[in-house]
Order: sequence, then structure tokens, then C-alpha cells
Amino acid sequence: METSPVKSLYTPRQAEIISVTALTPEEKLFCLKMVDGVDLCHLPGQFVQLSLPGFGEAPISITSSCSHDGCFELAIRRAGFLTGEMHTKVAGDIVGIRGPFGSFFPVDEFAGMDLILVSGGCGLAPMRSLIKHCEDYRDRFGTVHILYGARSPDHLLFKGDLAAWQGSAGFSCGIIVDSAPSAACYEGATGFVQTLIPPLDIDPTRTAAAIVGPPVMYKGVIDELLAKGIPAERVYISLERNMRCGVGKCGHCAIDHLYCCTDGPVFRLDKVMGLKGAI
Ligand SMILES: Cc1cc2nc3c(=O)[nH]c(=O)nc-3n(C[C@H](O)[C@H](O)[C@H](O)COP(=O)(O)OP(=O)(O)OC[C@H]3O[C@@H](n4cnc5c(N)ncnc54)[C@H](O)[C@@H]3O)c2cc1C
Ligand code: FES
Repeated sequence: METSPVKSLYTPRQAEIISVTALTPEEKLFCLKMVDGVDLCHLPGQFVQLSLPGFGEAPISITSSCSHDGCFELAIRRAGFLTGEMHTKVAGDIVGIRGPFGSFFPVDEFAGMDLILVSGGCGLAPMRSLIKHCEDYRDRFGTVHILYGARSPDHLLFKGDLAAWQGSAGFSCGIIVDSAPSAACYEGATGFVQTLIPPLDIDPTRTAAAIVGPPVMYKGVIDELLAKGIPAERVYISLERNMRCGVGKCGHCAIDHLYCCTDGPVFRLDKVMGLKGAI
């Protein structure tokens, strides 16, 4: 007989919202803690199924590294029914959590390598869990290049983290926006995120890469990474699909013969680059 709620794939566990911080007009950062006191113990790139009674469920990436204090963070864009309701929640409110689910960035394989971590838009949320992991275990990795692109200066997520990574000796951090309105106080680079890749001074024999972002970003970024000589077997990409069960049962998230929820969301590039509709 199943007794532990932690072991049930289908039963949400309760989590309490500890704090809510606005990141942009469209995105909020929620810090949560499991009410039963059992930590999520996730790995970078994994997601949870967030539920609100009467509003359903949605897959949301965990944006923090594995917890030091029992808390975990979700960065949530107000996209529709459930996420809109989530944006009304405040500290002390209770939500449902299933998971963590899915594959993760292979941090053990990355050990000893230089890394190029490319994200765009909301993709910085899952990527942040990998960057935070690199921060926590900094001496396990070589040079870590963080490259982040957003639509405009107003759309940059985690501005405090970005400033800290730019000022950190542990990281090189390039930020770029598609375009900046002339009225914006922005003196940084403009263009697409893949334009930050060619100037990087890297040794492709000891470099791995990770990519998370909107589908439109993938082709340009992959082309530049491969042009740098990084083999597809060392490039990992996180893909998003509409999901229901999150545990490989309903088929909603199929990519060819793979399920995004259980085979992904993090895939090795050479395993998906030939699949119809994957990228
Ligand atoms: C693995 C994974 C990780 C995710 N991580 C995050 C995250 O960290 N933060 C975040 O804000 N969002 C994340 N999302 C997207 C999030 O799950 C959707 O925005 C959410 O399901 C929308 O639910 P809703 O009820 O608010 O919107 P709805 O009212 O259901 O729909 C709003 C619109 O969003 C579309 N939509 C629904 N689900 C998806 C999806 N998976 N991809 C693209 N469009 C979708 C619908 O077709 C509709 O047009 C993630 C999705 C996946 C698959
Ligand atoms: S969401 Fe049900 S199989 Fe992936």
C-alpha cells in the first residue's frame, strides 16, 4: 500500500508560498516550502506540476538550485488561466506541487569542462537553476560563459542575479536585447543572443553547452555553437511542450517517439536534431 505522499506521482503535495517578488510586469518569483517538510531534491532543469484547486495544473521549471534551506523558487509568467490566478497569490497561501519531474542537465558530465549557457526570455528561469548549481560547486567547472537575450531591457529577468554574475570572477556574462526603445536607460548590446557566441574564446575539445529559450532562438544558437566546433553530443537543449500528466502516461507532450515530460525536457542535441518538429 502506498503511504508516502512523496512517492505518489499523481497526488499533489501542499507547498506554502513564503514570498512573492515581481521580476517584470509579466513575471513573478515565488519562493515556496513543502508543508510536509520533505524537500524536493531536484536537479537543474527539472520541473514541477503546479496546481491550484479549480484552475488545474501547469508544468513550471524550478529556477533555484537544490535547496539549502528547504525552499525552492518558481518564476512564473502570467500566460493564462492558472498562471493568472497564481499571480494573485501572496505569502502564506497554499498551492499543490507534484514532482520534481523530467530529465536534467548532466552536471556530472559537465564537471571539469568549460560551459556556454545560452538562454532567452523566460528560458533564464530553468537555466538559473544550472547557473546556481555552478555557483554552489564553482570549483567543479572551468570557465562558465552565461549568455542571455531578452526582447527589451524591460523584459530582462533576474536583473539582480545578472548584475552579480557580470561582476563575478567566476563567470563571464553577456547580455543582449533585441532592441531598446530610445527612451530606455540601456547602454548594453542589441541584437540576437547567438551573436554573443562567435567572439567567445573557447577550446571546443573541453567545452559543453546548454540552451533554454523560445523555439525561435534554437536554430541560430545551435548553428553558432556547432560552428565553434562543439559537437552535438555536448550540447543540451531544454524543450517545452503542452503537458497534462507530466509522467509519461497521457501522450500530450510527444515529440516523435519521445515524451517531453519523461525523456526531456532536457535532451542531448544529437538525440533530437533529426526528429520532426523537435526544434
Ligand atoms: C517543462 C516546462 C517548463 C515550464 N516552465 C515554466 C516556467 O518556469 N515559468 C513559466 O511561466 N512557464 C513555464 N512553462 C509554461 C507554462 O507551463 C505555461 O505557460 C502554462 O501551462 C500556462 O498555463 P495557464 O493555465 O496559465 O494558461 P492557459 O490558459 O492554459 O493557456 C494560455 C496560453 O498558453 C498556451 N500554453 C499552455 N501550455 C503551454 C506550454 N507548455 N508551452 C507553450 N504554450 C503553452 C496555451 O495554448 C494558451 O495559448 C513551462 C512549460 C513546460 C512544458
Ligand atoms: S505530459 Fe503526459 S505523457 Fe507527457
